[in-house]
Amino acid sequence: MNYKLIDMKVYGDERGKLVSLEGGMNCPFDIKRVYYIYDTLPEQERGKHAHRELEQIIVAMDGACQFVLDDGRERKEIWLNSPDKGLYIGKNMWREMRHFSYGCKLMVLASTHYDEKEYIRDYDEFLKGLDNVKMGNSKSTC
Ligand code: TYD
Repeated sequence: MNYKLIDMKVYGDERGKLVSLEGGMNCPFDIKRVYYIYDTLPEQERGKHAHRELEQIIVAMDGACQFVLDDGRERKEIWLNSPDKGLYIGKNMWREMRHFSYGCKLMVLASTHYDEKEYIRDYDEFLKGLDNVKMGNSKSTC
């Protein structure tokens, strides 16, 4: 499974807390894009797509939500519920987000600019593409 939950260093004192993310250091890629998700609702699900090239780190700045991650062989459910945890999701991972708490705010750091063509929104297509990735032919499926 190409993901990891990163415990981020927190600089805390009586004034509050601060976390820093730096490309190529505690964030394993150069950051090309930042976006955030808010005003979510518990009954709404998001994501349901994969990427061949994109890498991301997601931080729940406020509230909580569950990520379902799937590499075509196994599925994992991961709760993201603290601003000092970063969920790194690597290439070729199907992701779904659900069970958003009211007021959940997610910040996402991304390794590439936004490109709708890089989205795989069909699960069967995702699985088929994995065979090509294994054969070293990933470009042809994008
Ligand atoms: P969508 O991919 O549905 O969000 P999620 O990551 O929750 O699955 O994106 C919602 C809309 O936002 C869609 O019209 C594409 C647009 N969008 C951008 O323009 N830039 C971005 O960086 C992202 C992530 C989405």
